[in-house]
Amino acid sequence: MPFDVYFLRDDYSSIMTAKRQDLLRLLAAAQATASELQDDLAQDPLFRLAATEASSHLTRTLQTTIDRAWELFLRPAHPTTLLVTLDAGWIQYINANYEDGTKSGIMADQLAQHTSSDPELVKRLMRVLTANGTIREVGINEYAPTPFSKLFDNQSWADGLRHAVRDYSITMSGMPDYFAKSQYQLENTGKKIYQHVHGTTFFDRVHAGGEVGSQFNSFMRVVRDGKKSWFDVYPIGERLQPISKKEVLLVDVGGGRGHDLYQFSRWQKDQQFKGRLVLQDAPTVIAQVRPEQSVDMEVQEYDFFTPQKMLGARAYFLKNVLHDWPNDKCIDILIQVRDAMKPGYSRLLINEIVLPDEKCDSWTAAYDIAMMAVVDGKERSREQWGDLIDAAGGLKIEKIWRLGLNNESIIEVARA
Ligand SMILES: C[S@@+](CC[C@H](N)C(=O)[O-])C[C@H]1O[C@@H](n2cnc3c(N)ncnc32)[C@H](O)[C@@H]1O
Repeated sequence: MPFDVYFLRDDYSSIMTAKRQDLLRLLAAAQATASELQDDLAQDPLFRLAATEASSHLTRTLQTTIDRAWELFLRPAHPTTLLVTLDAGWIQYINANYEDGTKSGIMADQLAQHTSSDPELVKRLMRVLTANGTIREVGINEYAPTPFSKLFDNQSWADGLRHAVRDYSITMSGMPDYFAKSQYQLENTGKKIYQHVHGTTFFDRVHAGGEVGSQFNSFMRVVRDGKKSWFDVYPIGERLQPISKKEVLLVDVGGGRGHDLYQFSRWQKDQQFKGRLVLQDAPTVIAQVRPEQSVDMEVQEYDFFTPQKMLGARAYFLKNVLHDWPNDKCIDILIQVRDAMKPGYSRLLINEIVLPDEKCDSWTAAYDIAMMAVVDGKERSREQWGDLIDAAGGLKIEKIWRLGLNNESIIEVARA
């Protein structure tokens, strides 16, 4: 970055020049230290969050208010451009064909020819990706991959981007109109935001099958990548054992295609914990469960608004389910679980975000808005979780276990 071109101008006072020099030296030192710590930072989510929030704060200090406004206005260009370049197959081509260690990259014309695309379109869109560091620019119109571009070789992350552009961005762009009509009320009657924009609810689309459902379910497989598993924190040996191998240890209610339960089943084997595992979800989702991942579990079609058929299990697991629903629907779901729980024995484990009461980080705050837009759902604070559990009746929170990233927690609930 040609900082020095600017700070070497001779029309500044010597004090300001010295300060600029200091700033550049400190920024370079911070960059070098962050690069050295990259692997270490990957292992420590809380420190990483604190450092990235501090870095964003620094960027905002360096920008003018007008810089910030433009950054905000042009932000939609980034996910959309990445999606077009993935759909066109350019990113995959660069990732697959760049030879490590060589100086020459993949040329824009080569990309255009290989994918029968307009060379000018390639150059214009790739310029966005080189500018934001998704792709490395190794010469004029010449590209090399980065670890970030390679993330999207994983189909589930590519599907996550498709889900985010269609279901987050497009839906959120309808929010100003929606809230003007609802007179800024959350609890209005009639259509919710997703319906207002797309004419149907998100889960109706997911459960109808088709690409919305398959992309969403595919994304759900990686949504917890890089994060601690709940069973690494929650002491199962102490809280849910011993039980016999005939009894049900865990029912994963709304467990998607069983990605979590599959991880759990492998861990359970290593730990030699006994007990059956049951996966439940809507029929079209259950139909997508991979046979090789479900050998150690029972798989059931089940609507969680209807009576729970697995009675008296040791634990029921609801992960990222309740944040998809407003309070009245959550209460309906909780009542079905409660009625199946055996007092003094069964536990309900809710794996969700517990919002901090103040100083919420920007990821968590924005994620709450994504839930509002897509599913009329919400993230909840400690107090809101307490109120919700109380409203279901006959349940009480035993303990909350923090998982250490993005305020994710296990809320352990017993039948009162
Ligand atoms: C956000 S996903 C969470 C999936 C999984 N627990 C996870 O954390 O990856 C919500 C899940 O609830 C399921 N779901 C929605 N409505 C349902 C219903 N009425 N009965 C059963 N499952 C339902 C969806 O199919 C989806 O798999």
